[in-house]
Amino acid sequence: MKKTVALLCGGVSPEHEVSMNSARNIYKAIDKKKYDVAVIGVSRSGQWLHLPEDEFLQLASIETGNVGFPLMLLPGEELVIQYRPVGKSQFTVQNSHFPKVDVVFPIIHGPFGEDGTLQGMLALLGLPFVGANTLGASVGMDKDFTKRLLQDAGILVAPWVTLRKHETIDYHSIVQKLGYPMFVKPANMGSSVGVSKAETLEELIEAIHLAFKFDAKILVEQGLKGREIETAVLGNIEDLQVSGVGEIVMEKGFYDYDSKYISPDAAKVVIPAEDVSEKDVENIRETALRAFQVLGLEGLSRMDVFLLDDGRVFVNEPNTLPGFTNISMYPKLWMQAGMSYPDLIDRLLTLALERHQRDFALQRTRF
Ligand SMILES: Nc1ncnc2c1ncn2[C@@H]1O[C@H](COP(=O)(O)OP(=O)(O)O)[C@@H](O)[C@H]1O
Ligand SMILES: [Mg+2]
Repeated sequence: MKKTVALLCGGVSPEHEVSMNSARNIYKAIDKKKYDVAVIGVSRSGQWLHLPEDEFLQLASIETGNVGFPLMLLPGEELVIQYRPVGKSQFTVQNSHFPKVDVVFPIIHGPFGEDGTLQGMLALLGLPFVGANTLGASVGMDKDFTKRLLQDAGILVAPWVTLRKHETIDYHSIVQKLGYPMFVKPANMGSSVGVSKAETLEELIEAIHLAFKFDAKILVEQGLKGREIETAVLGNIEDLQVSGVGEIVMEKGFYDYDSKYISPDAAKVVIPAEDVSEKDVENIRETALRAFQVLGLEGLSRMDVFLLDDGRVFVNEPNTLPGFTNISMYPKLWMQAGMSYPDLIDRLLTLALERHQRDFALQRTRF
């Protein structure tokens, strides 16, 4: 029987547009013979809207009020129903029917999409969904928690210090511990938003100021000199697959927002990565797999690492809902491994349903 996928996109994070772009690609790749698709757009202000297909395909971003039909959630019932505001805090339920959802594909990057909040809500609604569960998503989004867990498991991560907004910063000890260059980043963000490289004390102060605009907790990391390698993990905990490796090659500078989305020529995505020895590839894949397990992830994650000249592999970060734009590394790595983009999407939906079945089968009463 045909199932209905709710594709959730947009969101309140600065990665709103990236999400819309990823969602369009996923929408096109979903096998419409197997699945009906209902698109739920989350506006920049956080409102949930049912978007008709033609509107969704045209939209670069969702502003409340100009598109779609507002939705509300009914835990324990169907996912959502449409409503119409009829005054201050007054609503009427619309008759038009939002389909009953079988599985959700949340493709909202960054805070309130990739950080466990949305996952917790979908779990509460009792719906199968693609990607990490609540805990994995939260841990994987927080660079400070990610690094502490990986370090505890003996996986290499760049030395760092965590700073909180209310604390007095001892610049001298940071410089002494890490040395220049350093990378400064918000603890919970993505797409390099708020990330800067600092090579002097002046730049460090500026970088810290910028990162604190995006998060009350930030990281200052030792800058690593290595190749930026990415690999893709796919599967639930019982059965994990790891792809080959790709490389981000920069002409100059680092992989910032601009080189990711605005001037894509600044960064070359090379798949498979060239001139990486078989031993290094195996080490990277093995490290990625272990990191995925240590962080309690499921479904999918792109694993970003640095490969140093001496062969050591440092994990930079997991991306539990990586980009799915047509230039994105995660789907490209699977295509390189022989899996088409539509097959990948189908596999992710199947994994979501399988995990739900596994977890839903658990006993919920004491006897
Ligand atoms: N410790 C580091 N050493 C060298 N380069 C780094 C380091 N941390 C980050 N970078 C560069 O900054 C980019 C963005 O940092 P990252 O931690 O991946 O943030 P985001 O989650 O926003 O992608 C990386 O892709 C890399 O180019
Ligand atoms: Mg990154």
